[in-house]
Amino acid sequence: MNLAANVGFSTAGEAFDRVAASYDELFTRTIIGQAQRKQVWKRLLQTFAPGERILEMNCGTGEDAIFLATRGRSIVACDASAEMIRMANARILREAESADVVFRHLSNEDLRLLSRGELFDGAYSNFSGLNCLSDLQPVACELASLVRPGGHVLICLWSRVCVGEFVWYLFHGETSKAFRRFPGKAQAKVGGLTITVSYPTVGEVQRAFAPWFELEDRCAIGLFVPPSYVEGWARKHSTTLGYLEKLDETFAEFPVLRDLGDHVLMEFTRCNQ
Ligand SMILES: C[S@@+](CC[C@H](N)C(=O)[O-])C[C@H]1O[C@@H](n2cnc3c(N)ncnc32)[C@H](O)[C@@H]1O
Repeated sequence: MNLAANVGFSTAGEAFDRVAASYDELFTRTIIGQAQRKQVWKRLLQTFAPGERILEMNCGTGEDAIFLATRGRSIVACDASAEMIRMANARILREAESADVVFRHLSNEDLRLLSRGELFDGAYSNFSGLNCLSDLQPVACELASLVRPGGHVLICLWSRVCVGEFVWYLFHGETSKAFRRFPGKAQAKVGGLTITVSYPTVGEVQRAFAPWFELEDRCAIGLFVPPSYVEGWARKHSTTLGYLEKLDETFAEFPVLRDLGDHVLMEFTRCNQ
């Protein structure tokens, strides 16, 4: 799926409002989307313990929030798109009414509005919501006042270099798409609106978080498992996709390779200061 981002609340919110109704069909329920998400879920479960109070940024239709809340975590999940939040609330009523989750229409730029309550045990952002921001430092600063010392923050972003994407588009003769991440910014269409997507390097993300958070670990999400626009191929080759998932399990944390997947999942710890 060719998703993207914004500069400012209204553009991202409006753009994703337009795709909210089809988002689960176009990404969440695709076999590639599910394969990539399975890798993130493994790490979310390892990182956040039952009973912990966790903040989710750019939650979309609530797939991760519902997953964690139905496994004993308490979730406050926010998104800039009112329609995404409407879909998430409808899902919770249908699928897990008693789960401990609250969805809020709130952009990453406005996280300070949450800061009146108790501190969170941790926070996360999955599948590229943070690529919608041109500067991650303000969000990192807000997170610093929301997450307790020692708490973990997991963020899963589109990487700067995705070898699978590069090879796929070169093979299909789409050279400009093959190189689109390399400048660090690109224009993309979401719901007919043009928005700007940033592809920060691991070093750039680390520097944005550095005053308050220490980078503990990182791994690729979608290293051999391809990006979601390869869904048509994946449906015809589901056995091969299974092998690719196994390769990801083996190689996702290898130095160099861990920065070359569709996404990179970075785990930070809030410093004691
Ligand atoms: C690709 S979707 C990912 C949704 C969800 N995290 C998932 O894993 O399926 C990106 C989400 O980021 C949200 N988003 C984009 N810019 C945002 C911002 N500045 N603040 C909060 N949410 C934002 C969009 O509304 C959209 O729901």
